[in-house]
Amino acid sequence: MNDIAEILEREAAPAPANARKVYVKTYGCQMNVYDSQRMTDALGADGYVETATIDDADMVLINTCHIREKAAEKVYSQLGRLRKLRDKRRAEGRDVLVGVAGCVAQAEGEEILRRAPVVDFVIGPQTYHRLPQVAAEARRGVKLVETDYAIEDKFEQLPAHDARQIRARGVTAFLTVQEGCDKFCTFCVVPYTRGAEVSRPVGQIVAEARQLVDAGVREVTLLGQNVNAWHGEGPDGREWGLGQLLHELAKIEGLARLRYTTSHPRDMDDALIEAHRDLECLMPYLHLPVQAGSDRLLKAMNRKHTADEYRRLVDRIRAARPDIALSGDFIVGFPGETEADFEDTMRLIRDIGYAQAFSFKYSPRPGTPGADLADQVPDALKSERLQRLQALLAGQQAAFMQGLEGKTISVLLEKPGREFGQIAGRSPWLQPVVCSETVGKIGDIVNVRISRASANSLLADGA
Ligand code: 5AD
Ligand code: SF4
Repeated sequence: MNDIAEILEREAAPAPANARKVYVKTYGCQMNVYDSQRMTDALGADGYVETATIDDADMVLINTCHIREKAAEKVYSQLGRLRKLRDKRRAEGRDVLVGVAGCVAQAEGEEILRRAPVVDFVIGPQTYHRLPQVAAEARRGVKLVETDYAIEDKFEQLPAHDARQIRARGVTAFLTVQEGCDKFCTFCVVPYTRGAEVSRPVGQIVAEARQLVDAGVREVTLLGQNVNAWHGEGPDGREWGLGQLLHELAKIEGLARLRYTTSHPRDMDDALIEAHRDLECLMPYLHLPVQAGSDRLLKAMNRKHTADEYRRLVDRIRAARPDIALSGDFIVGFPGETEADFEDTMRLIRDIGYAQAFSFKYSPRPGTPGADLADQVPDALKSERLQRLQALLAGQQAAFMQGLEGKTISVLLEKPGREFGQIAGRSPWLQPVVCSETVGKIGDIVNVRISRASANSLLADGA
């Protein structure tokens, strides 16, 4: 196995002093994190290197999220602050380009240029392979809005990963295998911002995973808005689902851990459940959002399954992989939610038992069917229910963490710890684990005994 720390030292040559610098600010989901990395790499072909300080930047790129609450308004107020930065720069005789990418870019398009003249270009999630040309035009003063759904394959057009960049980003990596969504849950804006469901071909995915592993990556998380709806033609000419794809990826030597997120309950097929039974490298952690526990609400949300179907599905997954931990997403205060509906959600949570969860107050998204429903729930009631739901989930999370005390678990070592003599990694269930640096080096997978669990992390013996 590569010694990552050593490679980092050897290869982290300083960027040329005259290189253009881009500062990228990412909001939202892991796919946006992945997209920001690919955009940075694409800009590399145009002479840009990434900077972590906005004051150095020749370009500021904000990669935006549209999923909840006043997303667009927040972007506009941030653009207001960037206008001040630009004014200050111009007074000093320098300039800075401002670009807006991501889902707000897709949803707002031209409107962004109208409302925020500081912006030099707008680029959507399906067109960012055109970023180098868009940036070159922006430097000439031509403002482009690229938000169509490109007919060409973005991933074919993007430059290959830069091995040096991968190493600098560490031993875990994201890899988008599927984008967009055809499910049209009535609360969700994703089908409108990310477009229709598209799967990347097997060959492209395997090649990208190999590049990542060759550069020292040990854990790959496959990403998709509906990742388990992924499908494609396998090398055997048959239609593959995510289960078969995971089997193929598991063959890559040096790839020690696989994960995937986010899944829809309707797309958990037998092959995928069996992959959890058969593949040691597939981590025993599954993010499987249910959103609500009342059948009436699940129907109104267009989730296409009942609460009991979800319970039975979880039973089957646990039968295949008994040590699997579940995480979920929940929405409280969907239009028409009664106290009884909410109690159904609480009951489902008690029945399942989650190791981790994300929960949100329903936020009407313009253009989605949910926004037009009567019976919107007052905000104070949403807040009160969210508090009760989060207290229940926090208790379950604490119980899961405490259950690990005294156990020996495997940890992928990722980075130096915060304190001297420590090294930090992740458990199979995604919790940060703080270890003594004597246990191994970055990129190693080691077994450690957990001495103490706190709310969000685990401490190993000797740390
Ligand atoms: N309001 C509140 N939460 C939402 N989510 C998606 N859309 C909305 C909305 N309009 C949540 C869902 C989803 C997660 C990514 O964000 O729980 O699973
Ligand atoms: Fe949104 Fe539903 Fe698609 Fe998930 S499955 S991205 S919640 S529409």
